[in-house]
Amino acid sequence: MNFSDSEIVGSIMADHQFVATHDTHDADIIFLNTCSIRDNAEQRVRNRLMQLRPLKMKNPALIIGVLGCMAERLKEQLLEEEKYIDMIVGPDSYRDLPKLMQVAESGQKAINVMLSADETYADINPVRLNTNNVTAFISIMRGCENHCAYCVVPSTRGVERSRDPKTIVHEAIDLFNRGFREVTLLGQNVNSYEWEGKDGLIDFSELLLQVAQVNPQLRIRFATSHPKDLSDRLLLVMANHNNICKSIHLPVQSGSSRILKLMNRKYDRSWYMDRIRAIKKTIPDCAISTDIIAGFCTETDEDHNETLSLMEWAAFDYAYMFKYSERPGTLAAKKYTDDVPDEIKSRRLEEIIKLQQGLSLRSNRRNVDMTFEVLAEGYSKRSKEELMGRTSQNKVVVFNARCVLPGQYVNVAIKSCTAATLRGSVIL
Ligand code: 5AD
Ligand code: SF4
Repeated sequence: MNFSDSEIVGSIMADHQFVATHDTHDADIIFLNTCSIRDNAEQRVRNRLMQLRPLKMKNPALIIGVLGCMAERLKEQLLEEEKYIDMIVGPDSYRDLPKLMQVAESGQKAINVMLSADETYADINPVRLNTNNVTAFISIMRGCENHCAYCVVPSTRGVERSRDPKTIVHEAIDLFNRGFREVTLLGQNVNSYEWEGKDGLIDFSELLLQVAQVNPQLRIRFATSHPKDLSDRLLLVMANHNNICKSIHLPVQSGSSRILKLMNRKYDRSWYMDRIRAIKKTIPDCAISTDIIAGFCTETDEDHNETLSLMEWAAFDYAYMFKYSERPGTLAAKKYTDDVPDEIKSRRLEEIIKLQQGLSLRSNRRNVDMTFEVLAEGYSKRSKEELMGRTSQNKVVVFNARCVLPGQYVNVAIKSCTAATLRGSVIL
């Protein structure tokens, strides 16, 4: 989400004749696009601000702006705490950046943290930053209204709003014509995408269908799906289109129904299991990844064991795993006590990570001796002789680069693996 926001900011700034530089020493303006989801994300921003201090001391005309969720959460308070920040800009105020720049240039502090009910930046064609020219993100909606008890997003990113599907399809066509071969449709909860147009209601399944029809050579991914809204119709659309990748990110957060209720996730363990069964039945080769939080308020060893057993049962291919971090202003911060001691949170997280390592390795081992269509994305970090790409299931594959260029589809026979990577050779 944040990466996609930076591309929108890049486009707005480029329209006003600002040019991006890769070296902070060359910059007249430095924007930090920030995340508030966990406390350590905010600490990283504070450290980065500290590192920028000498630049500001050397060049007082340098403008430093804090953008995104942390700007929205802390507002003026951040100006008081970090004295050499010049701009505070919330996630719905990026169009105002050029005006705010003028205020900052005149030596005043500039701030806009107004949230909007309809801003989707639909008409802005994002500049592609750090691009491999093969894969790109398309933001399809903004905000979230699910109010999961632990989560700061509804208050930092505002109400849910969907973007006009015509502009989404247009962006996908434009990317395809420029040589891109994969788009990821992004939203906090893509399954609640909804657009009321002249031709009736367009839901996420319909949008996915329209983007899939742009070109069979364009792969489509999407994230994130909320388990409460993952529909059978969506699974059917996925199953029926080769270019919709067979990979679903379905954050479970906890395997305990009691904890899920406290988290206000609006589903329980058995609902989640039913959704996993539906995925496996409709799309047998679909990879499933998840998010897990260890040590939410009141979590007991029993609750934690339920998370482990659910992980095992679902056999997740991949997981993002976190320690619970209390966020000011959230439902959990107001209503519950953050009562699981840090050592216990860490121990549980370690157990979760260890289990997932084993599950990922098992999942990858099943792919050895099989052949997959891989979209080559770029050269591997280690050597120009090797390319990296992904299978439809979103697994990273490293393979020999002879006769293949980034952006091409190739069949790769998998020869070996680790928990993180598949290795193979191209079948010509
Ligand atoms: N503490 C820990 N993890 C969190 N997440 C969201 N809020 C918190 C929090 N307060 C995790 C959830 C979510 C992912 C994006 O971040 O697992 O799915
Ligand atoms: Fe946060 Fe829940 Fe919304 Fe995801 S669905 S952004 S976890 S409130």
